[in-house]
Amino acid sequence: MNSGEQKPLRGFPSNQLKGNVIISGDKSISHRAVILGALSVGETKIKGLLESDDVLATMNAVKLLGSTVVRHSQGCYSIFGVGTGGFLEPDNFIDCGNSGTAVRLLIGAVSTNPITTSFTGDSSLRSRPMNRIIKPLSKFGTEFHGRNCDLLPMTVVGTDEPVPIVYKLPIPSAQVKSAVLLAGLNTPGKTTVIEEKATRDHTERMLKAFGAGVEIQESEEGTAITVDGYAELNPLELEVPSDPSSAAFIISAGLIVEDSTLTVRNIGMNPTRTGLFKTFEEMGANLHYELIENSSGEPLAHIHVKSSDLKGVEVPPERAPSMIDEYPILAAVAAVSEGDTVMRGVKELRVKETDRISAMVLGLKSCGVDVTEYDDGFTVHGKGRGSVKGDTTVKTHFDHRIAMSFLCLGLTSNNPITVDDGSAINTSFPQFTDIMANIGARIEELES
Ligand code: S3P
Repeated sequence: MNSGEQKPLRGFPSNQLKGNVIISGDKSISHRAVILGALSVGETKIKGLLESDDVLATMNAVKLLGSTVVRHSQGCYSIFGVGTGGFLEPDNFIDCGNSGTAVRLLIGAVSTNPITTSFTGDSSLRSRPMNRIIKPLSKFGTEFHGRNCDLLPMTVVGTDEPVPIVYKLPIPSAQVKSAVLLAGLNTPGKTTVIEEKATRDHTERMLKAFGAGVEIQESEEGTAITVDGYAELNPLELEVPSDPSSAAFIISAGLIVEDSTLTVRNIGMNPTRTGLFKTFEEMGANLHYELIENSSGEPLAHIHVKSSDLKGVEVPPERAPSMIDEYPILAAVAAVSEGDTVMRGVKELRVKETDRISAMVLGLKSCGVDVTEYDDGFTVHGKGRGSVKGDTTVKTHFDHRIAMSFLCLGLTSNNPITVDDGSAINTSFPQFTDIMANIGARIEELES
């Protein structure tokens, strides 16, 4: 949670990162496991759940909505669900902290229940656009009363007579797709979302695993995902794979710090999430995948990493949805690659936890990196290893991925790089600094 207390961290030039690393559970899958567990009838057992601030916000929310959450040990939970349509009206605001995924998925899930729910979040979340979910969810019959219409705090008056919808996503967004599918669960008939560009499909996969009727059809308009209404979800035992978006920081550190050899284990390799790995391969990265058997409904691999001399590339804009959270760390890696890395068609980055284009451009410039900013992206003019001056303090705007990206860059710059506040790292990857220390990276907390 953003307590307002800053925690400055400093990444120091390091060498030879080594180790065999277990990364914590996937954040997107963890949110969905908690929400679908809460909507099923009976006990869902989850192993490997990510215990980060964002996921804890979702857990608190489903408790306020009437389900029971029991923690057995680290990452092992039981969720006792109330069944679709069974959410109770909460007696307090639901505070989603920093998490856009929590608020957008939960609003979808409550919107077709006949209850009134009020949502809020930290200052970053309170400034993020909610219109993207209000638009489709209003079509079910739900009412929204937000600050300035589409901002949190927001009260959602769920409808007791929802009507099913067909909705074509105007922007590629897994959060919007998921909000509509979750609303469709307590709606009669069939609800369809059409997406032109594939976004992460964890909701569809998990809905099927919980026994919901889900149909996926390709058409000229895109992929149509249809969920059957008045679904009865059967509780599950599920294991959450390790998060490729968190692994991205450890892998990147291994690639850019000289003489490093690392393995990151059990990483989710869902093709809707692996755009960064593809981009790294095009840059010349030495990555080797050991595919492994799994029961999670998601492909998994151990990834072996060796430090590599990387060259700049142009990232195809159509790849953006499969690596949307990875542009900050790609930009940091691009700074120590040879040549230009062009990242365009990613205007969405301006409405993430912070404006990530602006935060990366300003931060990289203060580290002595040549960058060109566009409305829809940026180009990093990389000059190879040893070219980044560092010796600066970067503003993170309470954005976990901006903080981790600059700490990784500090490992291979000529002087340390400080981030003004690393406390946001707990929203997604609380083990980050411990794992970094274990593999030999020097990251230190400073007096604030
Ligand atoms: C997420 C979807 C993405 C991503 C976010 C997690 C999800 O957001 O940036 O970190 O779990 O559905 P958008 O749906 O806004 O692209």
